[in-house]
Amino acid sequence: MAKVLSGAGLRGQVAGKTALSTVGVSGSGLTYRGYDVKDLANNCDFEEVAFLILKGHLPNQDELQQYKAKLKTMRGLPLALKEVLERIPADAHPMDVLRTGTSMLGNLEMEKDFAQQHEVTDRMLACFPSIICYWYRYSHDGVRIDVETDNDSIGAHFLQLLHDKAPSELHERVMHVSLILYAEHEFNASTFTARVCASTLSDMHSCITGAIGSLRGPLHGGANEAAMEMIEKFTSADDAEEGMMGMLARKEKIMGFGHAIYSESDPRNEIIKAWSEKLATEVGDKVLYPVSVRCEEVMKREKGLFCNADFFHASAYNFMGIPTKLFTPIFVMSRLTGWAAHVMEQRADNRIIRPSADYTGEDLRPVTPITER
Ligand code: COA
Repeated sequence: MAKVLSGAGLRGQVAGKTALSTVGVSGSGLTYRGYDVKDLANNCDFEEVAFLILKGHLPNQDELQQYKAKLKTMRGLPLALKEVLERIPADAHPMDVLRTGTSMLGNLEMEKDFAQQHEVTDRMLACFPSIICYWYRYSHDGVRIDVETDNDSIGAHFLQLLHDKAPSELHERVMHVSLILYAEHEFNASTFTARVCASTLSDMHSCITGAIGSLRGPLHGGANEAAMEMIEKFTSADDAEEGMMGMLARKEKIMGFGHAIYSESDPRNEIIKAWSEKLATEVGDKVLYPVSVRCEEVMKREKGLFCNADFFHASAYNFMGIPTKLFTPIFVMSRLTGWAAHVMEQRADNRIIRPSADYTGEDLRPVTPITER
């Protein structure tokens, strides 16, 4: 007889130690190495935060300049990787493209020794936008783009590869903020995947490839895409109200709302929402932003549920002309920093992660000979 599993989803259980971040404990609710995410989003570039997460302290001006310059030199893609990307069809999911791209990179530029962990991580940080945009532009526009740009930041590099022109200051800033907000989030599903893989003393590319697979699902990273698909169907705030009420009556799950750890609000929402509003003004939007705000109001009123980081990211990315299917890969471009830092932390004090399970199967029984079954 099936027993009831306790602690489903490991909710509320401490599964290890980290010095990287806190969720729902102090500051506005999310801290990276002791800094409030709000403070970081208001004052830093993404590369500063990546440096902080990966190397332990905020860089000074020289360190930041050198780090950005180093990343700039690592944007190119090996021919064999480009050939693989060219063979992936246009209707593939970009997360699968990134998963394959990371795995292929691991074959071509293997992490032979853990002493290379920072090097291989910086390489992925620099070239993930190249991987995703090379495939996207080749499969959708039929062009082989040059993936080496002179942009100062990862976010601007990504937008330039996508749109063939350097982004505005506003768009570059929004990319910094977005990448900062997504960079790290304690023991979420994809990070835990990376740590489990790291605990077997596997290589960095395997840990990151596994984490990409976990992030792909709509209950995790895929929520921003699902939120976009929902809001773009609504023609006005009133239409959104009616549509949402119907979805709630049918007990449908509404993507971009709720959170496994935060109980009252997601601190990242307020920040990205403000940037989404600025972008809405810039593009003269009269639909998507008001629709999003109404969805937020309805969910609060009807279910007491709040927007998580993903909900207003949907409209913000849309206003910057980013195709919906590339939303989750942007999350990867950022969260790679958190994943890699967790892998490094796990390696520094490792024991293989191997929990136990409550057995719910049959009692012990003998094998009946095949002729008698
Ligand atoms: N839409 C509708 N109802 C929701 C909801 C949502 N987005 N999120 C939670 N709920 C409801 C659940 O149905 C449940 O109601 P019930 O007790 O009547 O069954 C209750 O709120 C508790 O939710 P639960 O699913 O147990 O929370 P969880 O901690 O297991 O899951 C999430 C957290 C994030 C997976 C969940 O909120 C969700 O699926 N959200 C949508 C996906 C999403 O945006 N993911 C990105 C997370 S950053």
